[in-house]
Amino acid sequence: MSNYHIKNLEEYYQVYRRSVRDPELFWEEIAEEHFVWRKTWRKVLEYDFSVPEVKWFEGAELNITENCIDRHLVTRGDKTAILFEPNNPNESPLEISYRDLYRRVNKFANVLKENGIEKGDRVCIYLPMIPDLAISLLACARIGAVHSVVFAGFSASALATRINDCEAKMVITSDGAYRGAKKIDLKGIVNEALESCSLVKTVLVSKRIDSKPNMIKGRDKWLSPLLDVASEECEPEVMKAEDPLFVLYTSGSTGNPKGMLHTVAGYMVYTAYTFKNAFNYKESDVYWCTADIGWITGHSYIVYGPLANGATTVMFEGVPSYPDFGRFWEIIEKHKVTQFYTAPTAIRALAKENLDYVKKHDLSSIKVLGTVGEPINEEAWHWYNDNVGKKKNPIIDTWWQTETGGMMISPIPYVTPTKPTYATLPLPGIQLALMDNKGNEIFGNQVDGRLCVKFPWPSMARSIWGNHQRYKETYFSQFKGMYFTGDGALRDEVGYYRITGRVDDVIIVSGHNLGTAPIEDAINEHPAVAESAIVGFPHDIKGNALYGYVILKEVGEGRDHDNLRKEINQIITEHIGPIAKLDRIQFTQGLPKTRSGKIMRRILRKIAHNELDDLGDVSTLLNPEVVQTIIEKRIKNELVN
Ligand code: WTA
Repeated sequence: MSNYHIKNLEEYYQVYRRSVRDPELFWEEIAEEHFVWRKTWRKVLEYDFSVPEVKWFEGAELNITENCIDRHLVTRGDKTAILFEPNNPNESPLEISYRDLYRRVNKFANVLKENGIEKGDRVCIYLPMIPDLAISLLACARIGAVHSVVFAGFSASALATRINDCEAKMVITSDGAYRGAKKIDLKGIVNEALESCSLVKTVLVSKRIDSKPNMIKGRDKWLSPLLDVASEECEPEVMKAEDPLFVLYTSGSTGNPKGMLHTVAGYMVYTAYTFKNAFNYKESDVYWCTADIGWITGHSYIVYGPLANGATTVMFEGVPSYPDFGRFWEIIEKHKVTQFYTAPTAIRALAKENLDYVKKHDLSSIKVLGTVGEPINEEAWHWYNDNVGKKKNPIIDTWWQTETGGMMISPIPYVTPTKPTYATLPLPGIQLALMDNKGNEIFGNQVDGRLCVKFPWPSMARSIWGNHQRYKETYFSQFKGMYFTGDGALRDEVGYYRITGRVDDVIIVSGHNLGTAPIEDAINEHPAVAESAIVGFPHDIKGNALYGYVILKEVGEGRDHDNLRKEINQIITEHIGPIAKLDRIQFTQGLPKTRSGKIMRRILRKIAHNELDDLGDVSTLLNPEVVQTIIEKRIKNELVN
């Protein structure tokens, strides 16, 4: 029996049980069989969740790019590694073979070195979905530098926070980005961000839109002349298993974003293993994940997981609506995509459009469909299944997190019978628990609770960059001896999991994690605002949208609320990015608070959801009367932007 390409449910349970009975043996077999190591490990796993400390494959030495590139050269040198599909459908796609990738990564790696980047240095990458993005990650990994990709939709101030937090010495960006019909001035955003980042010595700029950005002398350099003269050979840095590979920021319910730290060996083993298993990947497949590499999904399942398997991975620069709503389906047909992995929010948006956009295209190449990032609602699932999968392809609803590095709960195609809205069963090696409020594990089926993981897995984040204490408090303090995910889940009668959503103050909007605290901080900077509270409310396309309750300093009758709404959203755009804009803003004179002064978000959430009959006991509040006023205003519908 193989750990890969599990054939049926019975075999899944056998593999799963084995992975729980002897996790070290299980992962050791996988690590031995499928990767190249410079030196093998002394010990497969050492861990202590109370510190917390987790070490996989201690003593091993390797370079992840040797596994993602070099070792494929003999058998797959001419095979397409990255298939780049540009924003503009009239621009030719670019096929980067494994041999091309080898050259391009090495050249890039040499440019990094020549510009003073050494092993362990942090490099911030702020690029659109162009080949240089994937290549820059690999170039960092080649020389042991730690990449920190910031999604190129974040604002200058959000970028600056992330650059400063990880103390990056270099930023890699482009003159701009194409996004549908728009051009975005990325270099301008970087220039603005760097006004408050004194540690950045060099900015490498890739040319994409042929603009003439402001280049600061001595700091900013065009990438392509440097690449032209760089050597095509760059010895991979020999890394220790637990050396850092990257930092990637994710929102928390309080304070600054958390720089999740992932390390080399465990991340490689887990993403490669899950890629092959969960997508039922075969050698001649053309795999496409529509995520942006600025998020964990792109790191693990556009770059590292697929390349570690020698796969062809599609990288799409554009958006699903440009030049029309058929773009995804057109690309599937054009490149004969076999696995298609996208977000529920994209499915919901496309499902609203004319079905002809889908019907026009031949989607018969598809074998496996996937979703990630948020719960998929039943309607969207059926639309996807009926119209894209033509009821013959399995849909894998994959649950995981930036923190987990790779998929944790997912059907295995053709093995696990799917059930709409259920992520179904844990992948081999993943030991889940549902916990109650008192900290007890809930056993048996048909139960719900807080979702935890009881045992380490190779790709778990090892820390929060620069703040191990916060790592401990956020993930290992609620439930003794367990990793707490922050999600709630239920387990049905056959043991399938369904994720019910976040249980903390993180809201998932169009698949993006947004912490309420930084948005509230931004709003409170408006000179007219005294206080604010953000909650989520259901939205047809985005899954959740943001609802803000805002208290103004002076409640003068003459205030122009429409203008204020615009200004508030403008401030949010500047601080975080347009993804965090509020769909609704309700001005209010007070917020419901507990006697200790904590905002009762539960009540605000109910009001935003329009569940007005079910507010629970409000009598313990400091100011119960405020609830009625907020409800009345809501009913009067004073709140639509
Ligand atoms: C949510 C994305 C339901 C969940 C890979 C998680 C999901 C958060 C699913 C992590 C899913 C992700 N079903 N909810 N299939 N996938 N989530 O860090 O709340 O961007 O905790 O990682 O997204 O989001 P992140």
